[in-house]
Amino acid sequence: MKNNILIIAAAAALTFSCAEKNPDLPVYLDPSKDIEERIADVLPRLTLEEKVAMVHAQSKFSSAGVPRLGIPEVWCTDGPHGIRPEVFWDDWDQAGWTNDSCTAFPCLSNLAASWDRELAFLYGESVGAEARYRGKDVLLGPGVNITRTPLNGRNFEYMGEDPFLAGQMVVPYVRGVQSNGVAACVKHFAVNNQELRRTATSSNVDDRTLYEIYLPAFEAAVKDGGAWAIMGSYNLYDGQYNCHNEKLLVDILKGEWGFDGVVISDWGGARDDDEAIRNGLDMEFGTWTNGLTGAPSDSYNNYHLANPYLERIRDGRVGTEELDDKVSRILRLIFRTSMSPEQHFGSFTSPEHYEAARRIAAEGIVLLQNDGTLPLDPATKANILLVGENVLKKLVVGGGSSNLKTKYEVTPMEAVIEAFPEANVTWERGYVGDPTGSYNLVETGQDLSESRSAEKLAEDAVAAAREADIVIFIGGLNKSAHQDTEGSDRLDIGMPYGQPELIEAIAEVAPRMVVVNISGSPVSMPWADKVNAIVQAWYGGTEAGHALTDVLTGKVNPSGKMPFTVPFALEDGPIRTERQYPGIKEEGKDYWDEYYDEGVFVGYRWYDASDTPVQWAFGHGLSYTEFEYSKPKASGMKVSVKVRNAGPVAGAEVVQLYITAPEGAAVSEIVRPAKELKGFEKVYLEPGETRTVTFKVTPRDLAWFDAEDHVWVAEPGTYTALFGSSSRDIREEVDFRYR
Ligand code: GLC
Repeated sequence: MKNNILIIAAAAALTFSCAEKNPDLPVYLDPSKDIEERIADVLPRLTLEEKVAMVHAQSKFSSAGVPRLGIPEVWCTDGPHGIRPEVFWDDWDQAGWTNDSCTAFPCLSNLAASWDRELAFLYGESVGAEARYRGKDVLLGPGVNITRTPLNGRNFEYMGEDPFLAGQMVVPYVRGVQSNGVAACVKHFAVNNQELRRTATSSNVDDRTLYEIYLPAFEAAVKDGGAWAIMGSYNLYDGQYNCHNEKLLVDILKGEWGFDGVVISDWGGARDDDEAIRNGLDMEFGTWTNGLTGAPSDSYNNYHLANPYLERIRDGRVGTEELDDKVSRILRLIFRTSMSPEQHFGSFTSPEHYEAARRIAAEGIVLLQNDGTLPLDPATKANILLVGENVLKKLVVGGGSSNLKTKYEVTPMEAVIEAFPEANVTWERGYVGDPTGSYNLVETGQDLSESRSAEKLAEDAVAAAREADIVIFIGGLNKSAHQDTEGSDRLDIGMPYGQPELIEAIAEVAPRMVVVNISGSPVSMPWADKVNAIVQAWYGGTEAGHALTDVLTGKVNPSGKMPFTVPFALEDGPIRTERQYPGIKEEGKDYWDEYYDEGVFVGYRWYDASDTPVQWAFGHGLSYTEFEYSKPKASGMKVSVKVRNAGPVAGAEVVQLYITAPEGAAVSEIVRPAKELKGFEKVYLEPGETRTVTFKVTPRDLAWFDAEDHVWVAEPGTYTALFGSSSRDIREEVDFRYR
């Protein structure tokens, strides 16, 4: 024992003395030194060519380092739901590695529907660990663009219609990712709310709407989340491309918010040499592509921030001030990630990650309607008929850049058979949606080819339903064109492929019927009153099937709440003209103009203002128990309410705080939404348990943005705190004074 201690002591002394003995270790290589010192030390060591090489891509997902100085390359990876499979150097297709099948986590609208900040951290921490393990420095996500229209193809990658909810959920996600020494790259900045003509549409928004609705989630990610990267979006804002939009990147992001990280272009989003140099873009990726398909190979030296930049500096048209700022930001990113003093190793497809994926997916599942049919008894011996393509279609593959390759994906079919071992489970397809299962050479391996006609498929499903004790219809959308996918928008808000008619036909004959809608965005359900129960499930990732049956059996008491409104009809929404969506082509412009004429009245703000009935309200979600609210109180700016679990089983309730400004509060003639979400707490209560939920209201919670004076204004007055189980299920309220 004594010898061991002596050996250890000697080794320690030797190590210490080595460090001491190496006084010429450059500061930038010394992890004990402050990051800013390390940047200041290495910047003057770089040649002009080395600096320029760092500010643009060298391959599909990497930018150059400085080999002679030991400065590493920067490696990026999609996406918000998991680590994209390795691709070829200069291609979108996967390269066929055999060690890069990741954990697919639930889509971000699923996470948002959990309204659980701790789960958002767990999500970020887990996906960030997978990025670190795969040697990636930047995770290209999360996305926080507001669900302005239910038609946006990428709503599934975002966090709903309300800026407060999105802001509260993105902060822990960012912190979780970055706890692994991996940068979160929050996207797509900004007012990027559709996929149709996404690279050629200018979002024209008034300042008040911009600051109150479309910026807050990004602002929270930067100011509270400490995001190390932001991705500029493809679209234009006010006529200037967002990857080098002066107002968004220079004035607001880096100016008003003090962002010290890097702005990365979307892939192919940079469009102009001089603007790319001057307007806040730090790293240019994917140029000469339309962000999805191929490009002339090795075009990297032709990038706006490549040879054209070098030439401008060499002939004196531009200085090196902007370049040094870009490179300093990139070095800061490197010293925060791959050259961080904290050693991170990450982990990949661990049991913990699969468990996290399952838990997050289940916590975000929303029980929309239930006459008591759910939960189902796991010991049932019933004849359970499953109907729908999404019963067994694998949905992790596809959808654009969030496409993932996984070791496995639990389908609802597998999970139902497992969860109801005594039941007689059969399946009818019912309709054909998308029989393919391949994207960027990632394959589901499923053969979903079908020879029966649509009529025969429906006939067979209805006939089988007659013989069943209960039908569980599992349908909805998928990741193919005009569904939930990047690069195109949906064409309407109903279920596609004739599902509504099929659901009605089955409901006619089935003794009991549960419908599970799998989607990442709002889907209208005109047949709702014909079925016993409705569940909004999402793209739940690797463990999707298990998460669903955890809820169907009551193993998990559903606690999800809708992160966006589901209207009865698209026309009920705030978008009424072509100039609002998808935009109009004005004389002499090479892009479309889209005008956000609805202003701040997006989502529930619109449906409240127009007093329009909705099918599923923002914040709606039922439980297998009941919650009672009582005794609202206000003391100064602190407001509270008591919540009691009045039902038979334990469960979690998301207590929502909405605030109504006093009538005529504004000094100018602005019109404010009837109420706005300014707080929420998810409380887990045993049967009979009561909890007091308290919120501390801040002046910013009360404020509107005065575009004229460019300032947030919180006016004195009597405000009303509304405590709700949804935005349309307000249980208690109390007035409180501000000033
Ligand atoms: C895509 C997407 C973006 C993604 C990037 C890299 O076009 O818009 O979200 O991270 O390109 O795949």
